[in-house]
Amino acid sequence: MNSAAAIGKSANIFWHDCPVGKADRQKLLKQKGCVVWITGLSGSGKSTLACTLGRELHCRGKLAYVLDGDNLRHGLNKDLGFKAEDRAENIRRVGEVAKLFADAGLICIASLISPYRRDRDTCRALLPDASFIEVYMNMPLELCEARDPKGLYKLAREGKIRGFTGIDDPYEPPLNCEIEIQQENGVCPSPCAMAGHVVTYLEEKGFLQE
Ligand code: ADX
Repeated sequence: MNSAAAIGKSANIFWHDCPVGKADRQKLLKQKGCVVWITGLSGSGKSTLACTLGRELHCRGKLAYVLDGDNLRHGLNKDLGFKAEDRAENIRRVGEVAKLFADAGLICIASLISPYRRDRDTCRALLPDASFIEVYMNMPLELCEARDPKGLYKLAREGKIRGFTGIDDPYEPPLNCEIEIQQENGVCPSPCAMAGHVVTYLEEKGFLQE
């Protein structure tokens, strides 16, 4: 039997192993569990890529699930705001959920601004080697601001939203991400091209087979 441990604020905690493990689930699903973590400014195309990728994988018979920052703030993370500690807790929770989904054998697509490098690296450290795939939407602020799909950049410029990422709050780009999406000759890749890029990566690394 395992011995009792103290984890965080919980004392006398045991770990229970189940007879069906990750490898069994992966065999059933004919894929490998992983986390595709999409980071970038608001309006950089994270959700568009997440949904297009989710659809593409679904069409190929692969089980994927999208964890979207905005959507999660409707439920799991509705008690959090946008100060640095709240963003850190937001990312920590989503990282833990993503870890569970990957352990379930799913291709978990997490789409959050996740502006702080340290918070993203903490999530990376939760996952087994190479199964955390960081995708950086490297789009210029001017482009995101011109798109302004939710009208939030305008409000931030008017001072009606404080601490808006890219305006008066920081965004720390990844130093060593697995995939970087950017404009080519001033043109953004189409959603299909972006998703295709990620699918090719997943294929090459063997995530789309058991
Ligand atoms: S994160 O920084 O904690 O990762 P998250 O991805 O969950 O952010 O949520 C970002 C979304 O919240 C944005 O797409 C935007 O619609 C909305 N939002 C509201 N206030 C802010 C803010 N101050 N900074 C950034 N995004 C904000």
